[in-house]
Amino acid sequence: DELTSPFGSNPPAKTSHTSQKSKKAKELCKHSGDQMIIDAGQKHFGAVVCNSCGMIYTAASPEDEAQHIQHHERFLEGLRYVGWKKERVVAEFWDGKIVLILPNDPKYAVKKAEDVREIVDNELGFKQVSLRCPAKTKIYLFVSNEKMIVGCLVAESIKQAFRVLSEPGAVPSPGRDALQHHRAWCCSTEPQPAVCGVSRIWVFGPRRGKGIARRMVDAVRSTFMYGCYLSTDEIAFSDPMPDGKLFATKYCQTPNFLVYNFLYNN
Ligand code: COA
Ligand code: ZN
Repeated sequence: DELTSPFGSNPPAKTSHTSQKSKKAKELCKHSGDQMIIDAGQKHFGAVVCNSCGMIYTAASPEDEAQHIQHHERFLEGLRYVGWKKERVVAEFWDGKIVLILPNDPKYAVKKAEDVREIVDNELGFKQVSLRCPAKTKIYLFVSNEKMIVGCLVAESIKQAFRVLSEPGAVPSPGRDALQHHRAWCCSTEPQPAVCGVSRIWVFGPRRGKGIARRMVDAVRSTFMYGCYLSTDEIAFSDPMPDGKLFATKYCQTPNFLVYNFLYNN
């Protein structure tokens, strides 16, 4: 059990607690008759993941720790929001505001939005994925009262999208990478018209679960197309990852929300 601890030097009390817990888990497993995989983190022995900057490092290694601190500070620096005079505030809240940046905005605004998008791409595991059409891209930033960018949503114009299917007989759609088997959804092959695609959506780890993503999508729906409030049938999510899928299901109040940007309509 000691091996499951993320830090090598845990007091024995904690160790026995862990073993009690796993005993309980095994019992639970027997009772329900279900199979249960207990992921005790064996693959990343001694590794911890930083909830803020996302870096995985070995807490016991001074070099790793130093590298983490460096990365951590650079990451937070990139999310610092200085602001500018003519910022386009599309929503204001008790805990922050949403700023919209358009492609023809002043260079410094566009540069900031691009920098944040790069940080987000890095977090989402996108490797140098360029935007499909930067001239039609709208970037929404959620800025906290402490002047930190804690949310980012990249929206783009789309013409069609596909409904996620929940039926058991649905055909899985081929992924960006054939080796990636964890795509957790299947979708219809029938396109349907849609207006706005959520190309990326991200919220800073420590600020998740506070409705920031929800408020950003609300802002997109009311500002993406001048003069109309888009329904959840007019917005689609780009190739959602597990968190994004759970969020979209909750937000759209259906597991059959719209997706795009994964197959032929790339
Ligand atoms: N699991 C289950 N439910 C979730 C969820 C999750 N991971 N994320 C959001 N929800 C639900 C919330 O419970 C909430 O429901 P409620 O309104 O009934 O309380 C609703 O969705 C809105 O959540 P919200 O607080 O606005 O979401 P968030 O600010 O925590 O941001 C993500 C959600 C997905 C943007 C955030 O988790 C994230 O950045 N994840 C990593 C990046 C990522 O995977 N992005 C998606 C790429 S496709
Ligand atoms: Zn960190």
